[in-house]
Amino acid sequence: MAFDVRLYRLLHRGTPGDVDFYRARCAGRASVLELGCGDGRVAIPIARDGARVVGLERHPGMLAAARAARDALPPAVAARLDLRAGDMADFALGARFERVIVPYTALYCLDPARRHRCLLRIAEHLTPGGRLIFDVWPGDELAERGPFDDEAPEWIDGVRDGDVAIEVFERDVHRPGRIDVTYIHQIARPGEMPTRERYTLTHHYLTTAELPRVLAAAGLRVLEQLGDFDGRPLDDEAERLIVVAGLG
Ligand SMILES: C[S@@+](CC[C@H](N)C(=O)[O-])C[C@H]1O[C@@H](n2cnc3c(N)ncnc32)[C@H](O)[C@@H]1O
Repeated sequence: MAFDVRLYRLLHRGTPGDVDFYRARCAGRASVLELGCGDGRVAIPIARDGARVVGLERHPGMLAAARAARDALPPAVAARLDLRAGDMADFALGARFERVIVPYTALYCLDPARRHRCLLRIAEHLTPGGRLIFDVWPGDELAERGPFDDEAPEWIDGVRDGDVAIEVFERDVHRPGRIDVTYIHQIARPGEMPTRERYTLTHHYLTTAELPRVLAAAGLRVLEQLGDFDGRPLDDEAERLIVVAGLG
């Protein structure tokens, strides 16, 4: 996944309530593993709360941002945060964790074969009674819509980076089980001609019906599902698909 970390972080700032949700679900736990920990947005507050956190991240720029944030933490907190370069589809940490978390749709970065390998690795890294907790978006509506190619990019957001104004457009290409989302950033620096930068993120999505089967194939069982971080149930209106799973 190639993207400019600065542009990515301006746009992708999490889902309202997600950090507090993961903090609550990890409260009082000694060991937490976050897969695809990005810039440490979720891992750092959990380490602040007292857990020992291992964060695994493949993107060198995101890992560097997380490590820079860790360096600014009080030494006792920083000592609880172990940030490692690695692939969440292929890892062996030689330890088990009470919580394995995969926040903010990171699981959709993996194609089905790699996602299966990731789930097998997660099962190997959970303590008995441990929990896998992740959130994605429910793919049901997209799956029903069928294939499409939005040729005209659509404006989605305007963000600022100091005195630089950035208009963001999105172009989606959908095939069953996969959506390629291209973000086009139109960047206006004072006194300069606007420039454009783009990157594409691919999401290998799941429907709510598929998800329990995909977990079961790796020896994991769905224990709880929510439709948003405010605790609402998973129904047709749900914006998020939040899953708590255990072994067996
Ligand atoms: C949507 S971001 C979520 C970041 C962080 N969990 C958060 O909530 O802010 C997904 C992250 O997963 C990372 N990622 C994608 N594929 C990965 C892989 N195979 N192994 C490890 N990290 C991966 C990306 O680089 C990115 O930082």
